[in-house]
This record gives sequence, C-alpha cells and structure tokens, in this order.
Amino acid sequence: MPLTRSLADATVVLTGASSGIGTATAYALARHGTAVVLAARSGPALERVAERCRELGGQALAVPTDVTDLAAVERLAARAVAEFGRIDGWVNNAAVGTVGLFDEIPMAEFRRVLEVNLLGAAYGTRAALPQLSAAGGGVLVNNASVLAEVAMPYQSAYNASKHGIRGLADTVRQEMRVTGRGNISICTVLPASIDTPFFRHTANHTGREVLPPPPVYPPEVVAETIVRLLRRPKREAYAGGTARLIGLQWRLAPAFAERALGWYARRTQFGPAPRPDDTGNVFHADALALPGGGWQGRRRHLLRMTATFGLAAAGTAVGTVAAMARRARTGR
Ligand SMILES: NC(=O)c1ccc[n+]([C@@H]2O[C@H](COP(=O)([O-])OP(=O)(O)OC[C@H]3O[C@@H](n4cnc5c(N)ncnc54)[C@H](OP(=O)(O)O)[C@@H]3O)[C@@H](O)[C@H]2O)c1
Repeated sequence: MPLTRSLADATVVLTGASSGIGTATAYALARHGTAVVLAARSGPALERVAERCRELGGQALAVPTDVTDLAAVERLAARAVAEFGRIDGWVNNAAVGTVGLFDEIPMAEFRRVLEVNLLGAAYGTRAALPQLSAAGGGVLVNNASVLAEVAMPYQSAYNASKHGIRGLADTVRQEMRVTGRGNISICTVLPASIDTPFFRHTANHTGREVLPPPPVYPPEVVAETIVRLLRRPKREAYAGGTARLIGLQWRLAPAFAERALGWYARRTQFGPAPRPDDTGNVFHADALALPGGGWQGRRRHLLRMTATFGLAAAGTAVGTVAAMARRARTGR
C-alpha cells in the first residue's frame, strides 16, 4: 500500500542524509513539499541539507544519529513524531564499505560494515514499524544495492551486508502480510554504480584509489526511484539500467555471471593513483552535504572503462546464452 497521504502532507525519515544518495533524496522529497527528518552522524552536514530542503519547499529536521545505536534510532523516530505528529515513510539508506581482499581487511571493519549497513537497517525497521502502524500504514524503503543480488570481489563485507538487507526485507514483508499489516509496504532498491562520495568515504586496503565501476549514474536516479516507491510501492526496484542487466544475467547463468563480474570488477574498480591503507568513514563521520562524487567528470578514465564495459557486456551476453544452452543440455 502507498503512503496514506500525498507527499506534500507526509513525513519521511531518511538515514544517511548527510551525503550522496541520501542528500539527493532529501532534496527530491523537499521539492514535493514533504517533511523530512534527516539522520546521519555528521550534525553540521545535516543542518546544511536541512536548510537547503527548506529553501526547496519542504519542512526539515536534522537529528544527528548513529544507526548502530538502537536507542538513538528509537529517539530519532520519537523526535520525528514529536515534531511532525506521525511517520508515513522511512528510508534506511546509511552505509559504509571497506574495500580489500576478504583475508586482508581488518575484521573490526568487516564487523562495523555489518553493524552500520545490516543492523542499522534492522534498527531502523524496528523503530519505524510501530509508527507506520500508528499512521494507518506507510512505506519502508531499504536502499540496498545490486550487490544485494550479485557479488563483486574486494567488497565481501559490503556484499554480505547488502545480501542480508534483502533477506531481512523479504522476511519482514512476509510477516506484515501474515499478521494482517499489509498496509505497511517493505521495498528494496537495487542501484547500479552511482556518482557519490561513497568511493572516497570507503575504507581502502588495496593500495590504489577506489572508483565506481562504470556506467555511473547520478544520485538523482536513485532518489527518483525512492520517491516513486513511496508513492507506488513494489517489492524491489533497480536503479540504473546496468543493475537490471547484471541482475538478469546472475539469475540466468549464475556461475558464468560470477566469473564475468569478477573479471570486470577487478579491471574497473581501481584507478591509477596509489593510496595508503585508510579506514575511511567506517568509524567516524566524514560527510560534506554533497550529493555527487564528481566521478562523471573523470572523462578519460570513464571512457576507457566504458569501453571495457562494452567488451564485457558483449562477452557476457554470448557467455550467458552459451551457459544457458549448456545447462539445458546437461541439466547442470
Ligand atoms: N554509490 C553507489 O555506487 C551505490 C550503489 C548502490 C547502493 N548504494 C547505497 O546507497 C546508500 C547511500 O550511499 P552513498 O553512495 O550515498 O554513500 P555516501 O555518500 O558515503 O553516504 C553514506 C551516508 O551514510 C551515513 N552514515 C555512515 N555511517 C553511518 C552511521 N553509523 N550512522 C548514521 N549514518 C551513517 C553517512 O553520513 P555520516 O558520515 O555523516 O554518518 C552518509 O550520509 C548506501 O546504502 C549505499 O550502500 C550506493
């Protein structure tokens, strides 16, 4: 079921609002006149986003919150209700990453990525459900990733957390239905590579700069998808055509797609500049209220990588058909 009221009369809580997709989504909702409650660790960045939301026509409240702290997330929900009277939509969007081989990344970072991305979404869901019920229904959106469906080397903690979010959402959706709470919709967004500061924020143990594998889409593509889901909820939505394509390949010929994506990601995930080991924003806030990451400006690199993508897409199409034909022949 969609929001019980129009976006102009609705209140939406949004985590990870101080940067990237969260900031773009806050602006998209503000343009519809929505009251947005903005959460992340960085108070000053949240205040800047809130100010801009008001300029765009929405009401906005900044509530500095670490999503790994259940009590803080419950306080976030309480502040939203105290300020705006109800919660109609909740978007779990906060996330961090650590890039490196599984057997080389610090386990403390692996743990923290799961705490922020998966437990943070679970805590948000727990805090949101009673309020969405009290409002007579509403929509909860988890911003996952196409990496909730497929896998990419050097991203083990992130992949595991995003697969977990998808499983959590599917289960809670079932539970809403079997307990007569079908007026609460649970949606998962599966974005492709998005041009945000995420790739500078991520912890990095590869010795090289981390880049978004192309094609890279602007954060507004995901923001629009989230707004669409609040109005017309569905189980899952891809954001960015490549995500849909990769998801399809993974379902049709998983073994082949796993190899092809591993090959592609190894060639496109890193830039030429050396980088020392860095814990990024995994343990500390590092947000600047910027929706974009400036990656689309790196034309020469993107052109070369897009050519690699073209090669990989053609090879993968042929490989997928061959793998499906083989499976039909051998039954494996
Ligand atoms: N960029 C992509 O290519 C891409 C692709 C698919 C999916 N996604 C997903 O999109 C979402 C947004 O990512 P993004 O690309 O916009 O990255 P981003 O620019 O790095 O934003 C991440 C946000 O999460 C917040 N955050 C991190 N740790 C937190 C914590 N413990 N408590 C509360 N907030 C926390 C950050 O703010 P503070 O530092 O102020 O806490 C920031 O606002 C994530 O779920 C990500 O997995 C991104």
